[in-house]
Amino acid sequence: MMVRKLRKEEKELIKKMLGFVKKVHAHSEGHSYSHVSQVTEVAIEIAKRVPEEVDPFTVICGAIFHDIGRVNREFGTLHGLEGAAIAEEYLEAVGLEREDIEKITRIIARHTPTSMLKPRTVEEKIVFDADALDRLGWIGVLRGLLGKRGSIEEIFYSVIKKRREDYDRLHFDVSREIGKKDHEDLVYLIQELEKALERRIEEVEKIEFLDEE
Ligand SMILES: [Fe+2]
Ligand SMILES: [Fe+2]
Repeated sequence: MMVRKLRKEEKELIKKMLGFVKKVHAHSEGHSYSHVSQVTEVAIEIAKRVPEEVDPFTVICGAIFHDIGRVNREFGTLHGLEGAAIAEEYLEAVGLEREDIEKITRIIARHTPTSMLKPRTVEEKIVFDADALDRLGWIGVLRGLLGKRGSIEEIFYSVIKKRREDYDRLHFDVSREIGKKDHEDLVYLIQELEKALERRIEEVEKIEFLDEE
């Protein structure tokens, strides 16, 4: 549950942050602004429904900035750390208190399964879950394919099939409830794609015309 309502100055700051993030994410393929707003919305929903006490300001800021390190493609699995550094600079510039800056940058650094440290606080776990939930279902699969290179088989096994693990990594019952339908869609899609790929491989192996007399 959220422990309090947002203060007026916090709401103003959040609006400002959204404007900044919207510009920065405008051209970021799979991590466009729609991903950021989806993660923020779902993070708020989880925060309201978990029994733990959640600070609304830091969880919202963490969600808004969670993929800011994605703006440079090169950072890849380290985008949480890079994002934390970018956000730290921004939050300091807008005059946020040190304690809040640290809480928010830790949310950003620990939001992904590839982060060096796992999420610990309830706010860190919430943003992690909200992000994972946007990788499920049809949109999640499509997002995961954007910008990827390689054969169908490589992409299927290294990107799509791995999405199955996201549901098991969720921290809260509420998150599992929110993602249930998308997870089921994903499992179905993976099964069907896997069968189709196996058929394809069998067919390729069956090509016999070169051996004919
Ligand atoms: Fe991310
Ligand atoms: Fe994300």
